[in-house]
Amino acid sequence: MKVLVIHGPSLDRLGVRDPDHYGSQTLDEVNAHIEKVAGELGMTVEIHQSAIEGEIVGLLNGAAGRVAGAVVNPAAYSHTSRAIADAIAAVDYPVIEVHLSNIHAREPWRRRSVTAESSVGVIAGFKAHSYSLALRALKEIVEGA
Ligand code: DQA
Repeated sequence: MKVLVIHGPSLDRLGVRDPDHYGSQTLDEVNAHIEKVAGELGMTVEIHQSAIEGEIVGLLNGAAGRVAGAVVNPAAYSHTSRAIADAIAAVDYPVIEVHLSNIHAREPWRRRSVTAESSVGVIAGFKAHSYSLALRALKEIVEGA
């Protein structure tokens, strides 16, 4: 089972960026955790990080017909991007949105995610584990468990 993973803007700065909210692991460490759990679940992951909205749209569109599902952290674009929301709505695979932090326990503007409106579900607040929980959920959704 092939799964697309996308990290949005400034997630390449994990480890130094606001560890209270995002944890102390670097993006490489988070990706190693994702790879390990994916391996245990029999999944192959294709991981990307981009700070560019159009690039994220291109990654989502380019995975159509190629992946069983996606785990996406649109980061700040979650709160603003109709373009990413439209792309998620148009692809032929389920997308699970993840956030390292609990966006519902932070500033009011973070509580609304426009991209979540097109996603099958959202996992937020478990730091790096948000990604592994999303992989597990995706496996159940795809396999109809
Ligand atoms: C984030 C939450 C967003 O509000 C923020 O802009 C991020 C990271 C998270 O993973 O908790 O960049 O998506």
